[in-house]
Amino acid sequence: MSRVKTIGVLTSGGDAPGMNAAVRGVVRCAVNNGIRVLGFERGYNGLLDNEYREMDKRSVSDIVDRGGTILFTARSKEFGEVEGKKKAIEILKKDGVDALVVLGGDGTFKGAMDMANLSGGEINVIGVPATIDLDIACTEYTIGFDTAINTAMEGVDRIRDTSTSHERCSIVEVMGRNAGYIAAYTGISTGAEEIIIPENNEYGDINKIITRVRIANKKGKKHYIIINAEGIGHSSDMAKMIETMTGIETRATILGHLQRGGSPTCKDRVYASIMGCKAVEVLMDGKKNRLIVYKNGEFTDVDINEGLSEKKVFPQYFIKTAEELESK
Ligand code: F6P
Repeated sequence: MSRVKTIGVLTSGGDAPGMNAAVRGVVRCAVNNGIRVLGFERGYNGLLDNEYREMDKRSVSDIVDRGGTILFTARSKEFGEVEGKKKAIEILKKDGVDALVVLGGDGTFKGAMDMANLSGGEINVIGVPATIDLDIACTEYTIGFDTAINTAMEGVDRIRDTSTSHERCSIVEVMGRNAGYIAAYTGISTGAEEIIIPENNEYGDINKIITRVRIANKKGKKHYIIINAEGIGHSSDMAKMIETMTGIETRATILGHLQRGGSPTCKDRVYASIMGCKAVEVLMDGKKNRLIVYKNGEFTDVDINEGLSEKKVFPQYFIKTAEELESK
């Protein structure tokens, strides 16, 4: 087993609060073990331009509490092509990089995995799950999700105040791409009347929603909060329809990118730090092409090909709990 001497690290895809803590974990753990670290900027774009900074221990000082990513991020079109991956392999070989640690979501990992497979075993990649969407099947935790749901929860708490004062119905659209995790957590934690997620068609029926809004209004409810997942979308159209059909003033708020920013929560800082260190430990153990995951209360690693072939199953208890909490 040859000793790892140089590693690269990059952040790719949508940023997520806690990415910096994970980069800090990678850098500190590597440097403390005599490993050189190159920080590639702007995700795979920076790799293709061979734009990196030497990362020493001081280069990651004072970032554990910062949102965003000091390495910048991007979604690279060029790396999506086979030619792009071939170019990246050559650059990594030329730079003497033994392994590349990538922070991001499914798309980032898929690119890394394809590159590793294409290199015929010459390039070793380690993925660290970082996305606010929590939509990676092989892990129960992704960096940034905890901060995003707390940000969304606070936003909805504020909207409820004004919604109650005006006796309105409010639709709040949260991020999550095609997954309903942010919506489910935000909805349950704020006592929302409705949670509309791609994983549950039943609740997306606008006619049924309109009926429920009417009934609630008749019963004297002073507000009606609907959390709508980005994967469903059309929040402004829904608001117009509800207002037209019920006569109740309705407003739509799309929380948008504010969910991706901000100082990471304690959990995101700690878990991201552990995952960053774990990525380096896995490399020092001589493992190849792994994803760092959190499963059954433990931080562990899985084969990247196997991890990415898993299908995420949305836990039914979210839907059941939301239904049980309804004030009928
Ligand atoms: O994957 C994170 C995420 O914030 C999704 O929830 C959302 O669909 C997407 O990224 C937005 O991407 P962009 O910042 O490129 O608009």
